[in-house]
Amino acid sequence: MRLKRKDLLGIEDLTRDELELILSTAASFKEVSEREIKKVPTLRGKTVINLFYEPSTRTRTSFEIAAKRMSADAVNISVSTSSVVKGETLRDTARNLEAMRPDCIVVRHASSGTPHMLAGFVGCSVVNAGDGAHEHPSQALLDMLTVKEKKGTLAGLKIAIVGDIAHSRVARSNIYGFTKMGSEVTVAGPPTMLPAGIEKLGCKVTSNVEDALKGTDVIMMLRIQMERQSESFFPTVREYSRVYGLDETKLKRAKDDVIILHPGPINRGVEISSEVADGPYSLILDQVTNGVAVRMAIFYLLLGTAKEEQQIQAGKV
Ligand code: CP
Repeated sequence: MRLKRKDLLGIEDLTRDELELILSTAASFKEVSEREIKKVPTLRGKTVINLFYEPSTRTRTSFEIAAKRMSADAVNISVSTSSVVKGETLRDTARNLEAMRPDCIVVRHASSGTPHMLAGFVGCSVVNAGDGAHEHPSQALLDMLTVKEKKGTLAGLKIAIVGDIAHSRVARSNIYGFTKMGSEVTVAGPPTMLPAGIEKLGCKVTSNVEDALKGTDVIMMLRIQMERQSESFFPTVREYSRVYGLDETKLKRAKDDVIILHPGPINRGVEISSEVADGPYSLILDQVTNGVAVRMAIFYLLLGTAKEEQQIQAGKV
């Protein structure tokens, strides 16, 4: 099976079947990272370019590792040392990169819609690694994989996404993803960080975190996206933490077997206490591990050929 699309730009336009295909493919790639030699020849001869206009630790590194574990060549472009600082436009950057014949460009940008523009400029595949406050599809996929592994299913689960919903591409992609898979999603945070109309995406909305946590199976805590704010959305960080941060007391409202996710980077003592972040319910580092498998699956499903698919099915890689 293949994704019958050139690009992966968001969760909004993926079908449930496509989500299931990516998640099952990612699950099958997990064991590659546990091998002594963590490499399969599946994408030998393919070239992936990571074009990140915003900082990243997890996403950029795991896209690079994923490409290399599939035997693709991976090139990282640091925008601060590229010709972008000399005034080159996105279109010119894209056309020049394409002239070097990559098979895929992975892009992160502060402006929503940039990956979609880029996809129109180039013939190779484009993967959205986070565009403004719009979408972060590979993050949502690794979140779904992490929950599915632990709970066995996504259907019927209660998911609480808590924090700075307004500025979060992770929240948006996860609302699309989890609701398509049959979960019940509630978003919670300060009223100033709950965008008008967010319920139209299919989630419930509350500014009462304690209500959102009651009886929930999964809690996803979000960082305050200071880099996307030009004004103050709450009085003090201390007050935010007291009312909206997750600590061991608030955690008692969730189900006994609750699991806790956070896309990272975490701000300890702000949206999540260290006891909770490092505690027994936290799957934050499992998410990072699953990020590599999900990104291997994305490359495979976008760039692989029928011959490589037959080899995978025959267990030859
Ligand atoms: N979750 C996430 O996108 O982390 P990075 O910003 O480190 O890539």
